[in-house]
Amino acid sequence: MSKFPNIFAPAAAGAGVMFVLAYTLADGFIVPVPDTDSLFQVAAPQPAPVAIAEAPAQAASGDATATATASGGVFALGRAALPEEIAAWDRDILPDGTGLPVGSGDVYTGEEVFGEVCAACHGDFAEGIDNWPELAGGWDSLADEDPVKTVGSYWPYLSTTFDYVRRSMPFGGAQTLTDDETYAIVAYILYSNNLVEDDFVLSNETFFDVSMPNAEGFIVDDRPTAEAHFWTDDPCMSDCKDSVDITMRATVLDVTPEDEATDPEPVALAALESDSAEAGATGAGAALDPALVAAGKKTFGKCKSCHQIGAGAKNRSGPQLNNVIGRQIGGVEGFKYSAAMAQAGEGGVVWTDESMSAFLEKPKAYIKGTKMSFAGLKDPADRTALVAYLKSMEE
Ligand code: HEC
Ligand code: HEC
Repeated sequence: MSKFPNIFAPAAAGAGVMFVLAYTLADGFIVPVPDTDSLFQVAAPQPAPVAIAEAPAQAASGDATATATASGGVFALGRAALPEEIAAWDRDILPDGTGLPVGSGDVYTGEEVFGEVCAACHGDFAEGIDNWPELAGGWDSLADEDPVKTVGSYWPYLSTTFDYVRRSMPFGGAQTLTDDETYAIVAYILYSNNLVEDDFVLSNETFFDVSMPNAEGFIVDDRPTAEAHFWTDDPCMSDCKDSVDITMRATVLDVTPEDEATDPEPVALAALESDSAEAGATGAGAALDPALVAAGKKTFGKCKSCHQIGAGAKNRSGPQLNNVIGRQIGGVEGFKYSAAMAQAGEGGVVWTDESMSAFLEKPKAYIKGTKMSFAGLKDPADRTALVAYLKSMEE
């Protein structure tokens, strides 16, 4: 008996560690759920979907043989779904309006109900709170690297919104809304997206008066017809394109052999070099335009609160920036970088004109997780000038 604790203690400790780990990880992703108890009282509760408990006693009893007979299944698992259960799921509303219930609701009512049962997570104006989804806004962001996909910016069919809300929202209180309340809420979501006026009444009749901005934004997957000619056993191996855009430098990708003397120069590298010569961009001795450098120095004013550059520059809240072009990303010794920045430089990746410009345009988008709190320089001219200035401080 007395041995048992010894035998099990390590296992128990291990399990404990696992549990704490899992808990910690899980915890990191969870946003506190607002108190929803009071939220769901406004909506008159409808009969809840039929619960398993109401299934025939025979199935509930776990009698496998009986179940197999009931469902006719080969594996003697589960049972046939009850008609009520199927009905609870089978409430699709299709883009052509099939399945839309008769009913209506206006923006004002929608605002009220939304405020009571949705706003705790999605915000009063459907703008989203914390990590809960935004339902409005995001217009013109679809081509961005980090698009904001909302009902207004992204969803092609209004029927999806109606179906989704009616089927699954409010989160944790699915199917507690009446159809009229659902119409009203959807009207309010449209209003929040500037898609209808405040006197709009959404109903099964006005449903198609609304046009969704991204309705035409999706393409039908036509690869089997459009691309079938690429699918061949005999692929093109030379001169397959008329012109080629260089989008990344092999040296940055760190795939170029260091010793060019022994390795034959790859064709792509020759292309890269002529490309950079054209751009007049890189390499020691590239002449810098003094006017550009002066403009860049001025722009650097925005960086000075955190960065020093020039003789005797020290790390401040940001690392010193001497010789930063050509320097390893996250490579200043003694500066405590974010994990993201350190990782970006892993394997010796260095800053180039291009990557610097891209980083400065939107630091948080270019290196997700960087701790550099700087919104970015929108104007490409500012960035070009700044890069020139940074290079002028290479000595
Ligand atoms: C307790 C928080 C909470 C409440 C309250 C809530 N939602 Fe949600 N909502 C969510 C979460 C979480 C998701 C994302 C679910 C997923 O992706 O599976 C979501 C997703 C949505 C979406 C889809 C968004 C998208 O772009 O994918 C819509 C539309 C929506 N909710 C509408 C509503 C409406 C209308 C109400 C009120 C009737 C409501 N929600 C109440 C948490 C909530
Ligand atoms: C509010 C302070 C702040 C401002 C303003 C700021 N930075 Fe930074 N910068 C930082 C911090 C902090 C880091 C380190 C980021 C990390 O570790 O993720 C950083 C990192 C960098 C790096 C990477 C350096 C390396 O060694 O890898 C560059 C380049 C850079 N900043 C340039 C600029 C330029 C140019 C500006 C002005 C347009 C600017 N920063 C404005 C705080 C700032």
